Amino acid sequence: MLLRKFLKNNSIDFLNVENKTTIYHKPVLLRETISNLITDKNGIYVDCTLGGGGHTNEILKQLSQNGKVIAIDRDEDAIKFVKTEFVYWINKGQLIIVKSKFQNIVNVLNENNISKVNGVVADLGVSSFQIESSERGFSYLHQSELDMRMDKSQPINAKDIVNNYSQEKLVEIFFKYGEEPFSKRIARKIFETRSISKIEKVNDLISVIEKCYKGKHLIKCISRIFQAIRIEVNKELDELINLLEFSKNILLPKSRIAIISYHSLEDRIVKQFFVNNSKNYERSSHKLIPNKIIEPIFNLLTKKPIIPSEEEVKNNKRSRSAKLRIAEKN
Ligand SMILES: C[S@@+](CC[C@H](N)C(=O)[O-])C[C@H]1O[C@@H](n2cnc3c(N)ncnc32)[C@H](O)[C@@H]1O
Repeated sequence: MLLRKFLKNNSIDFLNVENKTTIYHKPVLLRETISNLITDKNGIYVDCTLGGGGHTNEILKQLSQNGKVIAIDRDEDAIKFVKTEFVYWINKGQLIIVKSKFQNIVNVLNENNISKVNGVVADLGVSSFQIESSERGFSYLHQSELDMRMDKSQPINAKDIVNNYSQEKLVEIFFKYGEEPFSKRIARKIFETRSISKIEKVNDLISVIEKCYKGKHLIKCISRIFQAIRIEVNKELDELINLLEFSKNILLPKSRIAIISYHSLEDRIVKQFFVNNSKNYERSSHKLIPNKIIEPIFNLLTKKPIIPSEEEVKNNKRSRSAKLRIAEKN
């Protein structure tokens, strides 16, 4: 495992859990998220995006001995890392780790005989460990196979999408998930290139994009295309929409949901969901019929998102686009 090798090569085996966690992934908006999430120190909390366990660790530290965290990740590497490093919490029966997609949250809870929880947190996107793992294909900086799967057992990867999707479907995902102005041109070039030979490596895809974009913001264009493909490979927006929807039924009254997003597509979904579900009326279908007054499902606690301080962005560049939104179940 990359982290193990890293720790060994750097002779830092003596580091405590928190330090190792930070090497795996530096948690973003940690204090802001956890201080707003916990409303009952004896409660059950779900961390939907375990990663290196940064948020999970902080929740566990704040809870009493009766409190519990159910931590979910679909990446086997994250599961293995936390199972090794968080033995203390696992043995105390306060941490349950589950390999799953977070849209399966209801099943995960049912399997653990839990019906309602005191809080849900999701820190979306990929971990530093995933981005920096040269064989995972998440980063355009590493020469690797086009992969980008968070769950390595999933059948479809980035290579399948780039080589098998129709040209029209590629245009659609580049527009929708990358907001890329050169979507058509890039999709056409992919189509032409792959009819001669398969696009298999990260660098093959970069060469195609380079042929389509001559401006000075080439890196931004490459990032947008990579983002679009990653979202499609992992069905990231569907996962988020389903998680938000299911959260309505699993949160106890006065308990909270906190979501950290990293790009506008995710943030828009979270914002719209919280706004729509914190309305105290249902719009009528006719202008002569008054709106129906209803009890809102959520109370929106963050009218504007919480963003990282300058200090945090200085210490952790990956935090710069983070937005935290929190709502409380009524
Ligand atoms: C940004 S990292 C979380 C980092 C973590 N909060 C920490 O501080 O160490 C996101 C993690 O969520 C996982 N993930 C993303 N989407 C997921 C989904 N739909 N279901 C399960 N895990 C997911 C990724 O595999 C990754 O490990």
